[in-house]
Amino acid sequence: MLANGPARFGLVTRALHWSIAALILVQLPLGLRLSGLEPGLANLWLYGLHKSLGMTVFALMAIRLVWHVYSPPPAPLGGGWQALAARLVHWTIYALMFAIPLSGWVASSATGIDTVLFDRITLPAIAPVSEAWESAAFAFHDIATKLFMGLLALHIGAALKREMDGDGTLTRMIRG
Ligand code: HEM
Ligand code: HEM
Repeated sequence: MLANGPARFGLVTRALHWSIAALILVQLPLGLRLSGLEPGLANLWLYGLHKSLGMTVFALMAIRLVWHVYSPPPAPLGGGWQALAARLVHWTIYALMFAIPLSGWVASSATGIDTVLFDRITLPAIAPVSEAWESAAFAFHDIATKLFMGLLALHIGAALKREMDGDGTLTRMIRG
């Protein structure tokens, strides 16, 4: 089944969840690596890779958002504070998955260098060329990714804990 049900994750949501998760798990260490580099010709491709994968996440998130308006995902299992906490964490993760690539794009635009995806698609600049914009947007990118890492640790920990408790939370995100 492609669509989500009242208690089931459909194939589209599961494919989006796991493909975006895989990209994120590459993006975080890659970004951390970049922040310790001095940009130069030899490592420019790494910046290109990070920007390309990051904007892919952004595009997939847009699809995920539209899909979830059309086919809402099921509410978290159980009730009480755990379900509420799960919702809160999911929503914040959602917001960050838009805000992080967007701030990367703003910061990159502000450097005055073209943002080129997969060596082919040149994105328009979405911010003026300005050192103030550049440092503010990179500072935001930095803080937002740190917050994101904390929430992901919580998210993954909670998913594993609930699976060990045997409530089927992880199983339904894997097999539906
Ligand atoms: C899923 C999306 C993304 C994630 C998870 C992510 C994550 C990160 C992380 C963790 C850092 C290191 C931050 C620091 O310690 O200062 C970073 C740096 C960076 N990101 Fe991203 N990023 C994403 C998308 C993007 C996009 C779309 C762009 C540009 C179009 C971008 C451009 C950069 C650049 C240029 C740096 C290096 C900044 C520096 O030199 O300090 N990122 N990213
Ligand atoms: C690394 C990046 C990840 C991101 C950005 C992420 C994001 C999300 C989001 C936003 C949801 C809410 C459902 C939706 O709207 O699609 C969700 C659900 C879920 N995630 Fe992740 N996730 C990640 C990784 C993981 C990993 C590694 C696991 C497994 C250990 C996992 C297990 C789950 C489970 C089991 C659910 C379903 C929760 C429920 O039944 O309500 N996620 N995830």
